[in-house]
Amino acid sequence: MAYSETKVVIGGLAHIPIIIGFFYLIRRQYSFGAMMRTGKNALSEKVKAAPAKAAAAPKAAATTKAAAAPAKASGGKKPHSDVPVNTYKPKAPFTGTVIENYSVLKEGAIGKVQHITFDLSGGDPEFKYVEGQSCGILAAGEDAKGKPHRPRLYSIASTRYGDNFEGNTLSLCVRQLQYEKDGETINGVCSTYLCNLSPGDKVKISGPVGKEMLLPDEEDSNIIMLATGTGIAPMRAYLRRMFEPTEIEKHKWNFKGKAWLFMGAPKTANLLYDADFEHYKSKFPENLRYTKAISREQNNTKGGRMYIQDRVLEHAEEIFNMIENPKTHIYLCGLKGMEPGIDEAMTTAAAAKGLDWSELRPKLRKAGRWHAETY
Ligand code: FAD
Ligand code: A2P
Repeated sequence: MAYSETKVVIGGLAHIPIIIGFFYLIRRQYSFGAMMRTGKNALSEKVKAAPAKAAAAPKAAATTKAAAAPAKASGGKKPHSDVPVNTYKPKAPFTGTVIENYSVLKEGAIGKVQHITFDLSGGDPEFKYVEGQSCGILAAGEDAKGKPHRPRLYSIASTRYGDNFEGNTLSLCVRQLQYEKDGETINGVCSTYLCNLSPGDKVKISGPVGKEMLLPDEEDSNIIMLATGTGIAPMRAYLRRMFEPTEIEKHKWNFKGKAWLFMGAPKTANLLYDADFEHYKSKFPENLRYTKAISREQNNTKGGRMYIQDRVLEHAEEIFNMIENPKTHIYLCGLKGMEPGIDEAMTTAAAAKGLDWSELRPKLRKAGRWHAETY
């Protein structure tokens, strides 16, 4: 039987699917064999490799959006999800022992401010905390109704390693509350109790509490700190973590960013931990700035008392340049009364850059970059 040329071509084309099918079967057989030999599925390896590619993508494109984006810890976990909270509740507090209690004021200062350290060893579970947390103190004795005193909160002034770097102590910075009423001096219950403690005394401690004032994990973050009076407590913990040599050796958290402390005190003699901060500044001039507002010795441009918000205004341009960087966090701690003043200063400073502080502040807060704890 004779075939025409067209029939030959059509016949040849009809074999193509059969040839493709043949090669597909051979490849499948080969892949299956390879999988059996190596125990690996080439396809699933590719899927696993995909996220690594995403992680290696350049960061630059993300930075502008990051200004308002909440920081996320790696592994999809919420940031700081492993920070301990409420290990000891006020109804079942831990009993700490006072190790030391000394004044942090210089001669001629106003009032009474003490640095108090407690031994936390022996806890089951252990009383662990991180920089920026607070604890509750239950003063001994009873209130006017014969009930135990309610706990008062105090910011922890030490790092998680404690002042002795052994990880078993906690320090506070406490101002004794004193005010006049009907010609009589009234002493605050818990602050007076704390300021008068002696080494060896037993104290009921609850907590730790709070995640508002925690430091970011990134070593290249910039940290702006605004403190009045004992609001310096968490900042002292941050600065020790950043600049105290034994701390750095212990935790391997090698701070590479810029830290800027604004500290408000009534007199030079009231500047808390001033010598330590000056020392850090002299050792790390590239990483630490320290600006003081001494309200009863210095005047602002209007002739009034110099407050930290006046210092913020003086440095508005630099502060806002830092805030434009998504790695910058701002921490505010101390007198509740300073918040409106700081807000006003930030509003003026932002306006000079064409920004609206009332819009920017909630964005910074949502992004976890604005941290405030006032009392
Ligand atoms: P109280 O006996 O409770 O007396 C306080 C009450 O006295 C006030 O509620 C008010 O009713 C009255 N009062 C106060 N002043 C006057 C006045 N001038 N005129 C009339 N009445 C007045 N404090 C620190 O020293 N260091 C810290 O690190 C610290 N950290 C804190 C962290 C947080 C998160 C919070 C919320 C508070 C912090 N405090 C800190 C404040 C602390 O918790 C106490 O509020 C403070 O020590 C006063 O407690 P007290 O028991 O001595 O006073
Ligand atoms: P002043 O008391 O001179 O008015 P301390 O807790 O050691 O007293 O320090 C608190 C510091 O904060 C003081 O210098 C105090 O000034 C200052 N201060 C008081 N009120 C405000 C406010 N509204 N804004 C900012 N700083 C304030």
